[in-house]
Amino acid sequence: MTLEVTNLSCGYDGQMIIHDVSLSVPDGGFATILGSNNAGKSTLINCISGIVPASGGSIVFDGVDITHMAPHRRVGLGVVQVPEGRQLFAGMTVMDNILMGAVGVQRAKAQSSEADIDRVLEIFPRLRDRRQQVAGSLSGGEQQMLAMARGLMSRPRLLMLDEPSLGLAPLIVESIFQTMSVLNDEGVSILLVEQNLTLSLQYAATGFVLDRGEVAVEGSSEALQASDETRRAYLGI
Ligand SMILES: Nc1ncnc2c1ncn2[C@@H]1O[C@H](COP(=O)(O)OP(=O)(O)O)[C@@H](O)[C@H]1O
Ligand SMILES: [Mg+2]
Repeated sequence: MTLEVTNLSCGYDGQMIIHDVSLSVPDGGFATILGSNNAGKSTLINCISGIVPASGGSIVFDGVDITHMAPHRRVGLGVVQVPEGRQLFAGMTVMDNILMGAVGVQRAKAQSSEADIDRVLEIFPRLRDRRQQVAGSLSGGEQQMLAMARGLMSRPRLLMLDEPSLGLAPLIVESIFQTMSVLNDEGVSILLVEQNLTLSLQYAATGFVLDRGEVAVEGSSEALQASDETRRAYLGI
């Protein structure tokens, strides 16, 4: 098991948002966290990446308890997040944004980062053509690709993506999902936060529907797709 979250609780300033959440992503798995706006999806993966501290429960990655580990050390283990809203350095070039992804990688030696850049630009050829362009001037889809490219520089073993499809045209969304699928085929475990229920369940093997900070429904994508309960929980009814 790559990621094992058990009875996790967390929130902000004493206000609990995530209550007793348990979920797992198997080695090389593709799981999705679904839920309506404000369900707590971002809070949950921010807690897994260490941005939001855990108040209870545990997070174990590859047998290592990372519940209270500093965020950069989690990145060092391969737990990498592509944040909601992309969070690029808008005034910096595409290449400099990509390089920022390698800064925290303690495992990487200077010479191997060349190979990492090549690989990332192979995955996103559009970024190669725009290497020297300022990130803020990219289209929404290109910005999402750049956010993913930056994340890949950290050599993820578990890649967590927070609503990568938000605000993008259907064709670009499809290509973003296909890229996740390619990475997954290469052995990267994926934990995808999405509001796009149909597409997520099409690509992911398993899903967790979050409702007001709790897992309301979980199961295989096939089961979730077919279930009325999913839609009810998802819509918050
Ligand atoms: N930084 C923060 N400080 C205080 N409350 C927050 C913060 N971020 C999110 N929240 C609250 O946590 C709840 C869940 O938000 P969030 O995790 O962003 O949900 P989702 O990603 O599912 O839309 C919301 O009520 C939101 O207002
Ligand atoms: Mg969110």
